[in-house]
Amino acid sequence: MAGRTWRSTLPLVMGGLKSKSQYARSFTQSVQTVTLIPGDGIGPEISTAVMKIFEAAKAPIQWEERSVTAIKGPGGRWMIPPEAKDSMDNNKIGLKGPLKTPIAAGHPSMNLLLRKTFDLYANVRPCVSIEGYKTPYNDVNLVTIRENTEGEYSGIEHVIVDGVVQSIKLITEDASKRIAEYAFEYARNNQRTSVTAVHKANIMRMSDGLFLRKCREVAENFKDIKFTEMYLDTVCLNMVQDPTHFDVLVMPNLYGDILSDLCAGLIGGLGVTPSGNIGANGVAIFESVHGTAPDIAGKDLANPTALLLSAVMMLRHMGLHGHAKKIESACFDTIRDKKVLTKDLGGNSKCSEFTGEICSRVQDMD
Ligand SMILES: NC(=O)c1ccc[n+]([C@@H]2O[C@H](COP(=O)([O-])OP(=O)(O)OC[C@H]3O[C@@H](n4cnc5c(N)ncnc54)[C@H](O)[C@@H]3O)[C@@H](O)[C@H]2O)c1
Repeated sequence: MAGRTWRSTLPLVMGGLKSKSQYARSFTQSVQTVTLIPGDGIGPEISTAVMKIFEAAKAPIQWEERSVTAIKGPGGRWMIPPEAKDSMDNNKIGLKGPLKTPIAAGHPSMNLLLRKTFDLYANVRPCVSIEGYKTPYNDVNLVTIRENTEGEYSGIEHVIVDGVVQSIKLITEDASKRIAEYAFEYARNNQRTSVTAVHKANIMRMSDGLFLRKCREVAENFKDIKFTEMYLDTVCLNMVQDPTHFDVLVMPNLYGDILSDLCAGLIGGLGVTPSGNIGANGVAIFESVHGTAPDIAGKDLANPTALLLSAVMMLRHMGLHGHAKKIESACFDTIRDKKVLTKDLGGNSKCSEFTGEICSRVQDMD
């Protein structure tokens, strides 16, 4: 069971600083290697932007670049290239740009394959309003934690008779307990006060019932964190009425897929939302959740914010809080000033100009 390994990494994920000495220490760490999967479409452009900003901030990160395309392994099973797998196995930490999912290519989505390969069981998406970037809400501050390995996405589907198909929603005690524990540990280690379990146990009594029961049991061990349970539909209704009611939300796979995008929409969309996938055996992959944007690829028009903020999340996971804060502030200051913004953020600047502005702000902080 991976429990012990992932538990030890929890305090680091998106963690806030606890003391000034921790801040000072976090500037003096030795260089660590991170696997970089630039991805497709705008992936290489936004990855270059992140690398430039990290260099300007003197972040002690060395990148090991790997490409990821599906290959057929022994027995005809689809797998990621061994160089990419070995790199992740060694480094444990990865940063990933968007990957295209070719329709009718015959292989599963590369994102799904990565999730399976490294048992990336928790998808964590902090959604926090960005000052200066106008959206209908200006004080969103919540985190969605999605169970990433089972539920409706288990891929168990079959034809019963012609014209009738069945898809199986798989919920297990182990996976439900693991994600519930992750959510509560996350709340505790990130100075958050409540966890809401999102479910439909009134309809799916056995599957969501099991998920909810595990959340209730785990909540018993976290008396310092307020626990509530809510139906998915009620959460959606309340979320668009007033998102400030929510703090940490934990939920099964499909609900998480939908609700995490809805929450990203509240703060301005996928172009500004970071994401982290936490796996077994200490592996974690941070990624931008938008797609490859083929319409603007290669035109220097992409907004690198989502990948950059995911990389900031990664730095915090690695305990590099000082560098994380510096880069995050430079990014948010640039957006707040509104002088150099990419088109999707309401400006006219190129990706390289936006990147250059963040780099100069980071350097000015020295
Ligand atoms: N996480 C992932 O790897 C991921 C996620 C979603 C889609 N995809 C893949 O991406 C490809 C294209 O998907 P899609 O067109 O549905 O969605 P998309 O996110 O690529 O594009 C939707 C719209 O958003 C814009 N956009 C997206 N990211 C942007 C950025 N960083 N800066 C500026 N504009 C941005 C695009 O220009 C486009 O107009 C598909 O192959 C899909 O499978 C990958």
